[in-house]
Amino acid sequence: MVSLRNVHRSLEQRRDRVDEALEDLVQNRMTKSDAPAMNLARDILLAGGKRIRPVLGLLTYEAVGGEDVDSVMDLAIASELIHTATLIHDDIYDQSKTRRGVPTLHSTHGISHGIIAGDYLFVLAFSLGGRCEERIVERMGEAAANIAAGELLQLKHIGDLGTTPEDYYAIIDGKTAGPFASACSCAAMHADAAQEIVDALEKFGWEVGRAFQLVDDLLDLTGDPSMGKPRGTDVHEGKMTLPIIHALTMLHSVEREQLADVLQNFSDDRWGELTELLESAGSFEYAKQLIQNHIDRAQENLEVLPDSDAKALIIEIAKRSRGRRT
Ligand code: IPE
Ligand code: IPE
Ligand code: MG
Ligand code: MG
Repeated sequence: MVSLRNVHRSLEQRRDRVDEALEDLVQNRMTKSDAPAMNLARDILLAGGKRIRPVLGLLTYEAVGGEDVDSVMDLAIASELIHTATLIHDDIYDQSKTRRGVPTLHSTHGISHGIIAGDYLFVLAFSLGGRCEERIVERMGEAAANIAAGELLQLKHIGDLGTTPEDYYAIIDGKTAGPFASACSCAAMHADAAQEIVDALEKFGWEVGRAFQLVDDLLDLTGDPSMGKPRGTDVHEGKMTLPIIHALTMLHSVEREQLADVLQNFSDDRWGELTELLESAGSFEYAKQLIQNHIDRAQENLEVLPDSDAKALIIEIAKRSRGRRT
């Protein structure tokens, strides 16, 4: 069994394999007629994402007994291409300036180029993943379509102080947890795993994905230099993340009014005020507890799998999603 000391190295190896496959893809497209599009997209594609979705895909395939890891690489890469396409477009809607530690594509090249680069990566993803069997392509398509639905719902709730936890979960299920679930269940299907195993991996993906987005939203409020984007973007954008939704429900009278005022008239000099209100409502603790619950449930779903190195690495990824190190 993989020792704790080797866990980090083993995860790095999987990530390196994904990076190599992505670099090969980029090189290959640069010799084709779509080279100008790849030339546009490649900087952000290769800017050092964590590659969590494709790594989960590779490990899931291995953990359910898949024997030809190379055969699942196209599917894994497809999940990363869809993810990167989503990020390029998301940065346009969110007017974000930094992604993966570098300026966003639309801020350097303009919105039209950002739209084209995102569309291009979506198409490339489906031309790779589309070679898989029908049920896999269907699940991939469903996850990608639900990202659009999640992003639309999020736009609808921008600045909406009446956003409920149910609204929040519908948003994050669409934009984040669904693609995690799809990355895992598609890899399991590709390995011809039994339906019961595919279902368990799908549930695992939902739970890890929820934890992952909750952590992202929490770190936006507490700050973390490893994020590759400045703290507080969500608050500036008027995004209703769970700690904020929780505090709006828990606080009363003067504090509730103060929180509404901070959110509606936010500026960086009000950080202290916001943090104090969230702390007084217990909202950081609440979010941390929910993150832990999702991670626990994720892990429970892996119990159907026999012990293996790949399973141990998947568990490690689930645990690490509590922080942001991968
Ligand atoms: C960022 O995803 C968007 C969220 C779902 C929070 P990642 O944190 O996986 O981004 P990269 O791929 O590592 O840049
Ligand atoms: C990221 O969502 C994009 C998707 C998962 C579709 P967010 O807007 O919440 O994440 P960041 O903060 O831009 O990474
Ligand atoms: Mg967004
Ligand atoms: Mg965003």
